[in-house]
Amino acid sequence: MCAARLLVDVHTHVYLPRYATMLRSRAAVPRIIPWTGGEERLLILDHEPSGGRPVGSQYWDREEKLKFMDRHGIDVSVVSTANPWLDFLSPTQAQEMATELNADLEEYCSTGPAIPDSTTKRLYGFGLLPLVPTVSVDALLENVKQIAAAPHLKGLIMGTRGLGKGLDDEALDPVWAAIEAAGLVIFLHPHYGVENSAFGEKENGHVLPLALGFPFETTIATTRLILSGVFDRFPDLRLLLAHSGGALPALSSRLASCIDHDPLVAARLKHDARYYVGKLYLDAVSYGPEEMGFTSEVLSRAARYKDITPSKMIANRSEGSKRMLFGTDHPFFPPLNSVEKWKSVVENLEAIEDVQGWSDADKEGVRGANAVSLFSL
Ligand code: URA
Ligand code: ZN
Repeated sequence: MCAARLLVDVHTHVYLPRYATMLRSRAAVPRIIPWTGGEERLLILDHEPSGGRPVGSQYWDREEKLKFMDRHGIDVSVVSTANPWLDFLSPTQAQEMATELNADLEEYCSTGPAIPDSTTKRLYGFGLLPLVPTVSVDALLENVKQIAAAPHLKGLIMGTRGLGKGLDDEALDPVWAAIEAAGLVIFLHPHYGVENSAFGEKENGHVLPLALGFPFETTIATTRLILSGVFDRFPDLRLLLAHSGGALPALSSRLASCIDHDPLVAARLKHDARYYVGKLYLDAVSYGPEEMGFTSEVLSRAARYKDITPSKMIANRSEGSKRMLFGTDHPFFPPLNSVEKWKSVVENLEAIEDVQGWSDADKEGVRGANAVSLFSL
C-alpha cells in the first residue's frame, strides 16, 4: 500500500477509443456526430439540448488524462467509462463490448506510468458489466470474474437500470454475491435523471438534468436498494455513490421515519434506514464545504446508528469523512473560458480544505488516504 500523501480522483471518466468509435457509428443517441470546424459533439441524454456537448481527445486520450492530472496535482485516478455505458446494446453486443472494454481499461492502466519511486500506478479503473435486459446472469458473473482478475481494475461502474427493472431486482442477487466475494467496489452513477416533463419547457441547457436529475436518480436507486434488503443479504457490499449520494444524506431520517410508519415495510429491514446510509461511500463532488460537512455529519451519525439513539448522538464529522473521497467528474464540466485550473476541480479541493470540524488528517483522508485504503492502492 502506498504510504505517501496522495491526491486521488475516484470520479473521473473516459470513453475508451473502442467506445468512441462505436458512438461515432451510431445513427441514434447515444452518439458522437461531426460538428462545424472539424469538431465533434457528444449526444447522450434523451432530451439533449441542441448540439449536445463538445467532445474531443480529453475523453479518450490517456495523455490528456495525465496532463489534466498533472495540472491539478492529481497523483492517481480511478477511471471509469462515462454514461450511458452499455445500456443501449443487445445482450450479445453488450457482453462482447464489456469484455473488450475491460481488457482495454486494464491495459490503459497497466501500461501507464507509476508514481515516482513507487509501485503504485497513476491509473486504476472501474470495469463494466453488460447490464442489459435478458442478458444471462452467467454472462454477468463472467465479467465480474474478469474484473476481479484484472490487477488494475478495483471495482465496476454501474448505472441504475440493472436488468431493466432497477437495482432492487432479486435477479441481481448472484451478482451482488459475486461482487461482494471478490471485494470489488461498485461505483453507482446516474444517467437517466428524472422524468423530463418535471423540468418544464424553458431552455436551461444541461443545468436541470445534471444538477437535479442526476442526483435524484442516484437517491432513488440507492433508496430502493436499501428497501430491498440488499445490504442485509450482502452486508460487505461496498457501494460508492456519485455526486455525494445526491439527496440521500438530507433525506435519510425522513426515509427512516416513512419506513417506521409503513405497515408493509416497517418489519422488513434488520436495521434503521440510517444504518445503511452509514455503510455507503460517497464521492466529495458537491462543490461546497457546508454540504461536505453536513454529509459527513450524517454519515457519522449513521455509522453509529446501531448502538446509540439519535438524541444521544454527538455530531462527529470526522468519522463520516472517512467514507468520503475526492473526485472531479473530468472531462465533464470543463471551464467556459480558458484557464490553467478547472473550477470544477479547484472548488472541490477548496471545499475539502474549508470544512468546519475536519482535522488535517480528515482532509488528507478525503483527498486521498480514504481511497488508498478503500482500493488498496
Ligand atoms: N454529464 C454526464 O453526462 N456525465 C457525467 O458524469 C457528468 C456530467
Ligand atoms: Zn460522472
